[in-house]
Amino acid sequence: MNMEIRNLDGRPVIVGGGIAGLMTALHLAPEPAVLLSRMPLGADASSTWAQGGLAASLGLDDEPLLHLADTLAAGDGLCDADVARRVVQAAPAAIEELARLGVRFDRTPAGALLLGLEAAHGRRRIVHAGGDGSGREIMRALVAAVRSTPSITVIEGVEARRLAVDDNTVVGVLARCSVGPVFFVTGRVVLATGGIGGLFLDTTNPLGNCGQGLGLAARAGAVLADLEFIQFHPTALDGADRPMPLISEAVRGEGATIVDETGQRFLQGVQGAELAPRDVVARAIWKHLSNGHCVFLDTREKPGPTFARQFPTIASACRGAGIDPGHDLIPIRPAQHYHMGGVAVDGAGRTSVSGLWACGEVASTGLHGANRLASNSLTEAIVCALWVAESAAGSPGGRQKPAIASDQDSPDDPMPVRALLSGALGLARDGEGLKAAIRALLPLAATSDPAAVGLMIAIAAFLRQESRGAHYRTDFPHRAAVARRFEFTLKAALATAQELAGSPALEEAI
Ligand code: SIN
Repeated sequence: MNMEIRNLDGRPVIVGGGIAGLMTALHLAPEPAVLLSRMPLGADASSTWAQGGLAASLGLDDEPLLHLADTLAAGDGLCDADVARRVVQAAPAAIEELARLGVRFDRTPAGALLLGLEAAHGRRRIVHAGGDGSGREIMRALVAAVRSTPSITVIEGVEARRLAVDDNTVVGVLARCSVGPVFFVTGRVVLATGGIGGLFLDTTNPLGNCGQGLGLAARAGAVLADLEFIQFHPTALDGADRPMPLISEAVRGEGATIVDETGQRFLQGVQGAELAPRDVVARAIWKHLSNGHCVFLDTREKPGPTFARQFPTIASACRGAGIDPGHDLIPIRPAQHYHMGGVAVDGAGRTSVSGLWACGEVASTGLHGANRLASNSLTEAIVCALWVAESAAGSPGGRQKPAIASDQDSPDDPMPVRALLSGALGLARDGEGLKAAIRALLPLAATSDPAAVGLMIAIAAFLRQESRGAHYRTDFPHRAAVARRFEFTLKAALATAQELAGSPALEEAI
């Protein structure tokens, strides 16, 4: 028996307590909103772990058009140029908004914002807060702002399990809390649940991020897009810890190099070298490792003695692994870091289900295309939260009828999915491996959300028979002449998977 919460007076329900969810709630104020979070605010959100900051064209030598050009180049032909233009134009104001909300950005003694450099950016345009602790500082300020905003009702320890949908319109959220299932009657839901790191063995993200928002949206019938594009960060600290500690690209921006056990800088022949686009650096490291080498980040000369002051979080992770970045090489390898794909949304964050919006990593706005430019994601979350809030505030919401939804208590153990996705959907993919993963995931997908999400990703990766951006197929190593996006529902994905699993001959027909 569900406990039913009806006295929400039509309030929008935001699912997720990271930067995207908090900013959406703040932008909705003074309109009352409910924010559901699995954990106490700030705990276990990948936002809190973000080291890189926010990209915005704030330098005297910079302008939104240059930021746009870098974003489109990284996206490898699949960005939505209109969305990208709107995001980069809004980025400087988003930084101001955060400063107004109390975020203490890193500044020069004269008070100007310090601008860092990251891979594939033609200018210094990364704003940090607390050095490599940007996410932590932004979350500190936003959590404080949310807690002191009376119109926002924060409910912690609640996990959204299903969206109730009637005639393609949201009518409520079924959630699970310590006392059992609870049903929120609402016609407006914003998904801000983050990414999919927990579906991989090697990730830089909290392991609890298992694509929950993708599962909720997919089971509600929403269209998902660009799922095959998963970003692997080139420089995770290669030690025993899982999730793997991230070593920010900003370290390379300050001059650190990538070397092998012989001291060779094997990226020197690549355009951009250590600061080439993230997918290029990650693949080069993966290939070198596959050829039996060891790979290290060399920070001994640059940043050198200032390392611990500039990158206190990373210095502490290194210390934990017995490494002194001033004297030792840091062993590195690529790890899952970000999902470019997600729930397909329009320019206002609306999904294909009426009354359902998505914001942040769970959404696919088209900004990132096939490969996200470093530090564009926090910027996107802040900018798009405003668009979502404006759209949701102005919306009458769907019908608010008592909904019929039951939590099938579906198993959400990601373990079986982790091994499958890590094998078939890592940095290098091929058709045979993807088909095997699809066959293995299909029987699990009816009841397991992680498996359903993994299956949709595997199908998108199987269908993309080319290499583009972060998606690299060893059996199709070249880029196709025409760039197209793949979008589909769970129902369509299941039909494709069944055909594939049942009839190998069908491969030609896809
Ligand atoms: C990093 O600091 O290298 C990560 C930044 C990002 O993922 O945008």
